[in-house]
Amino acid sequence: MKKVMLVFGTRPEAIKMCPLVNELKKRETIETIVCVTGQHRQMLDQVLDTFHVVPDYDLSIMKSGQTLFDITTGILESIKMVLEEVKPDVCLVHGDTSTTFVTALASFYLQIPVGHVEAGLRTYNIYSPYPEEFNRQAVGIISKFNFAPTELAKKHLLDEGKNPQSIYVTGNTVIDAMQHTVVEDYHHPELDWVGDGRMIFITAHRRENLGEPMHNMFRAIRRVLNEHPDVKAIYPIHMNPEVRKAADEELGDCDQIHIIEPIEVFDCHNFEARCHLCLTDSGGIQEECPSYGKPVLVMRDTTERPEGVEAGTLKLVGTSEDTIYEWFTKLLDDEKEYAKMAHAANPYGDGHACERIADILEEQLNK
Ligand code: UD1
Ligand code: UDP
Repeated sequence: MKKVMLVFGTRPEAIKMCPLVNELKKRETIETIVCVTGQHRQMLDQVLDTFHVVPDYDLSIMKSGQTLFDITTGILESIKMVLEEVKPDVCLVHGDTSTTFVTALASFYLQIPVGHVEAGLRTYNIYSPYPEEFNRQAVGIISKFNFAPTELAKKHLLDEGKNPQSIYVTGNTVIDAMQHTVVEDYHHPELDWVGDGRMIFITAHRRENLGEPMHNMFRAIRRVLNEHPDVKAIYPIHMNPEVRKAADEELGDCDQIHIIEPIEVFDCHNFEARCHLCLTDSGGIQEECPSYGKPVLVMRDTTERPEGVEAGTLKLVGTSEDTIYEWFTKLLDDEKEYAKMAHAANPYGDGHACERIADILEEQLNK
């Protein structure tokens, strides 16, 4: 039996790795070991519960208001023992978080092969998204197996000189996670509150947007809602205290917006599928909303998901108050502009990424 260890720590990594955990557990030639860093706590546990994944190891490193130094040193110091004890044949990491980077670094120090799920996404601006672009590129130097979600991601890796034999285009595992979440017969008290009107779905959390950019976003949203009393917004807020403070200051007393606790991924997908449009700086939501044909205003200066922009469902609007205001207003008032963006597109896979990754690992590890 070959040992495959999956390490993840935040909500989005868990959403995209749990379906892979469950697929690998079906494979007879593989022993699947799960280690969570606990970079997130409540938001991670919510996903583990949803997918019924029980970690074998939990590093529990989260502390409130953690810095990049806290996360990096916390994981590096505690994961060494786990890697030495398990001695996996391959260590799988996902995407671009500090958990991803530090786990890959620790594996490299112990000369354990790394597999990178969601490899090859790039903006080539090391400060945007920050620190994620660095994390991705750094893992790309170390990884032996690169599971690229799209042909474009593969191209980035080839252009960087990676061995073509190490790159596999698999689709994104988030599309696998989405196969069974959206249901016809779905009810939620927040959707009852919205009723038949237009619902705007909002999320925001990026580190580079904390401070003034986030205040700009919220002020723009507030202005537009004030001018459209028929529109309501639902905003499941990230647990970062800095995000909560900014949202409370700018949106706290606005009756048209419900700021609620993080929702389960099942609810999140159903909300996305039923919204009129979405405003976000999230990475994962840029992959999900196009499938539902929901326009997304991406409140960031760069995106590593240009496939959705090309497909026409995502619009990169930056973080200036006036630009967000202008685009949000345009999509609410101009039916033609809305229709241009509101069509289903799915550039990120066919829902079979986990099977492909498991097949490749079985084949490669048993050679
Ligand atoms: C992290 C990732 C980011 C990813 C995001 C997904 C890094 C550097 N950043 O950013 O790439 O897009 O997760 O959401 O890896 N908190 C809680 N409970 C939780 C989760 C967070 O209280 O369950 C609070 C803590 O105070 C924590 C803060 O949120 O200090 C920020 O969490 P952190 O993991 O440092 O950064 P994120 O912004 O979540
Ligand atoms: N999500 C969720 N509950 C929420 C908000 C988001 O389950 O309250 C899901 C969403 O469907 C997507 C992922 O979390 O799959 C995105 O995570 P986040 O925006 O935190 O991180 P990013 O993708 O930007 O790294």
